[in-house]
Amino acid sequence: MAYETLIVETTDAVTLIRLNRPEALNALNSQLLSELTAALDAAEADETVRCLVLTGSDRAFAAGADIKEMSDKTYAQMFAADFFGAFARRMEQFRKPIIAAVAGYALGGGCELAMLCDFIIAAETAKFGQPEINLGVAPGIGGTQRLTRFVGKSKAMDMILTARMMDAAEAERSGLVSRVVPADKLIEEAMGAATKVASQSPLAVMMNKELVEAAYETTLATGVALERRLFHSLFAFDDQKEGMAAFVEKRKPSFKGS
Ligand code: HXC
Repeated sequence: MAYETLIVETTDAVTLIRLNRPEALNALNSQLLSELTAALDAAEADETVRCLVLTGSDRAFAAGADIKEMSDKTYAQMFAADFFGAFARRMEQFRKPIIAAVAGYALGGGCELAMLCDFIIAAETAKFGQPEINLGVAPGIGGTQRLTRFVGKSKAMDMILTARMMDAAEAERSGLVSRVVPADKLIEEAMGAATKVASQSPLAVMMNKELVEAAYETTLATGVALERRLFHSLFAFDDQKEGMAAFVEKRKPSFKGS
């Protein structure tokens, strides 16, 4: 499918989605969101795709929701459209792993989009922020909730109330990103991580993703019980037999997703 605001390519079971509205620092307008939803649907439906990488440009992952498109909307319009609701739910319900590869600005909805991915790899140039307060509004795609869970109340309040940006080093120190790499190595590093994920049992990958997500939604006892059940259930798959046989036979496993 041809997209105007995205560049999508699939190589060796990994789909790389690049946000591509350079004139607006990849601000998330309705066209970009509907194209991104279509690209996610296509990747989810394609059995050969095992992992995704979502990235922007050197200058911006995404500078937020499109302020120019949003500025004249009324409360009735925002409420009736459930603005950003369907997109956020699509990301939350996506079953395959998505790695955010962030260089430059990840602000407002851009920071929230990165946090909706499964983990974030940042270039040294990355800057994260929730500057909605400057516009007289608040984050609307989970920023107040997810940023607080990632970095704790004090840093989240600081960023959300003062609009201060966090650089890559602080983001790594605070647990917002999993690794920081030189800007010219960002895509290579993210694709390398995605290729590693794509080589695993896709069934085990989906269950592991579900389990880590459950840690945000459940009590410790419920999460641990769920983990034990899913761990047991993984023994129903051929991939468990293959993974363990390969270890014993000192060879690389070949997972079939069955
Ligand atoms: C629309 C945007 C934009 C945005 C940048 N642009 N961010 N357009 N929406 N969020 C456009 C600018 O208007 C400009 O277009 C072009 O991109 C380049 O931006 P500049 O400002 O000239 O670049 P620079 O001086 O380098 O500053 C970069 C920046 C700044 C610090 C990232 O652009 C900025 O502060 N942007 C807004 C960030 C923000 O407030 N994000 C939160 C949005 S609210 P022209 O045509 O002038 O060249 C949000 C809510 C989410 O995300 C919740 C929804 C439910």
